[in-house]
Amino acid sequence: MSGNLRGLSFRRGLTDGLYESIADAAAGSDSGREARLVAVADEFMTGNAPVLSAGSFYDFLQSGHHGKKVFMCDGTACLTSGRSKEVRQSLLGKYQPHEIGTMTCLGHCHSNNAVLVNREIRQCGPSVSRETIRIFSNAEMPALTAPTGDIREYYSLADRIRVDTEEALKELEKSGLRGRGGAGFPFHVKVRSSRDAVTPDRKYVVCNGDEGDPGAFSDKWLLEERPHSVLFGMLVNGIITGADTGVVYIRGEYPLAVKRTREAVRQFEEVWSATGGNNDRNFRFHVVEGSGAYICGEETSLLNSLEGLRPEVRTRPPFPAVYGLFGRPTVLSNVETFANIHYILDKGGAAWAAMGTAKSPGTKLVSLDGAFNKPGLLEVKMGTPLKTVIDIMGGGTRYPVKAFQIGGPLGGLVPATKTESLTLDFESFSKAGFLLGHAGVVSIPSDFPIIKLLEHLFEFTRKESCGKCFPCRLGSARGHELLTGAYERRELIDRELFDDLLETMQLGSLCALGGGLTLPIKNALQYFGTELKEYFTTGKTW
Ligand SMILES: Cc1cc2nc3c(=O)[nH]c(=O)nc-3n(C[C@H](O)[C@H](O)[C@H](O)COP(=O)(O)O)c2cc1C
Ligand code: SF4
Repeated sequence: MSGNLRGLSFRRGLTDGLYESIADAAAGSDSGREARLVAVADEFMTGNAPVLSAGSFYDFLQSGHHGKKVFMCDGTACLTSGRSKEVRQSLLGKYQPHEIGTMTCLGHCHSNNAVLVNREIRQCGPSVSRETIRIFSNAEMPALTAPTGDIREYYSLADRIRVDTEEALKELEKSGLRGRGGAGFPFHVKVRSSRDAVTPDRKYVVCNGDEGDPGAFSDKWLLEERPHSVLFGMLVNGIITGADTGVVYIRGEYPLAVKRTREAVRQFEEVWSATGGNNDRNFRFHVVEGSGAYICGEETSLLNSLEGLRPEVRTRPPFPAVYGLFGRPTVLSNVETFANIHYILDKGGAAWAAMGTAKSPGTKLVSLDGAFNKPGLLEVKMGTPLKTVIDIMGGGTRYPVKAFQIGGPLGGLVPATKTESLTLDFESFSKAGFLLGHAGVVSIPSDFPIIKLLEHLFEFTRKESCGKCFPCRLGSARGHELLTGAYERRELIDRELFDDLLETMQLGSLCALGGGLTLPIKNALQYFGTELKEYFTTGKTW
């Protein structure tokens, strides 16, 4: 069934395609909404059910969303910072309670006071100098450093690559670049698979700019401030694999990133087509704006979203490199992954690799939340001691902190006492039972109840679950219920039942939303047992 829909959607392509038609039809006034969606179904000949079901999936397309005039951030860093109450209070002076909505997250974890009004971020409440994002970068850092000179010159490196694409692929392999979107998969492997894959007509390159992890704002910053680095990385992949279309999927919570990336695409089109002649100068970019769904960061859900299908996670294999957008071979990678490619191909894979460790080469962007004395974005060499990142680069925290959640809601919960033994790289984190992920750092103050954090994480997963598999769909709701009962009404949780729930979610979930949630929960049970014990039945040794 989804194969047929995919085919119908492919016929129209991406410009005014099924996804954007659904988003347009579902937005706006509630009256006539269903009729507008049915008209889209007629136009695309899909039948009503798939269009109505996709149209009802996204947060921004829900009827309640349109009546809101301002959106507060309800991400983890804003919750733990304790500033949400202050922000809400100051909004209540200007807006009616029903006009205030929430979004997770606005990517201002460094200030904890951002609100979205008319698609623009504003700082709300008392403004202090810390609210300006700080960017820490040495001149030679690959991801944060701005392209120098004329952008024509910047893109001319792509012409050199065209001469020998195998050589370029070898440099990518030599660099050891691993995906920065969380899983750390070797980048060159997917490029090679996509290059070698057979297609009836075309291939794609897709950039995952759906950065939904509360605590991370590095992709947002790159798309706003370094969009050409990202576009360049995608273009080169098009040249290597033979793709002629690049799609940048950016979450709707980041309107400035959408605007700046669209501007950059216009600039690219001016310089790229003007000097043309070759076939791969036909490379075209589409910038697509998400409609508010965390799960669209998962690569197969993102692809379904782009196709206008309900963005449920697909089973894998086949992987996107061979069966991606519209079922065509697709290199799909994260913003930061693409942003490193110019440096690698300009200075050589070995130079880039030398900045990190043997298994985690290169650098990593790290987002520090508002608890730090120096909050902001850092680019650090992989292998840097975590203590250096926290105490020296971040200047330590403004108040006592008992743990850091690193790597988003599915990332580990690192007790403050453990930071000394970790270095910032994939291996150090996974060996110690944590996850580097996107490397957003959310501080958990010493007086913040861990049970409340667990409740928040289950609630997040419950809300964002795509619903395809029951361990996540039901497990997240049940876990949330248990934790709310324990926190608000002192209803003790049966520890064995809770452990069973975690095991079912971990082993039975189709993707890392349901499966990955269990990591921070297990970390919390292991390291904060003394604090959590009172919420659980006795009888189990902690
Ligand atoms: C629930 C979930 C959310 C995800 N969110 C993101 C995201 O926001 N950005 C991202 O690049 N990858 C995200 N990923 C990982 C993607 O599925 C995929 O691995 C990644 O985009 C591949 O790019 P990379 O190899 O460059 O990391 C998410 C995965 C899961 C399971
Ligand atoms: S784990 Fe959750 S988000 Fe992932 S496929 Fe299952 S229901 Fe969907």
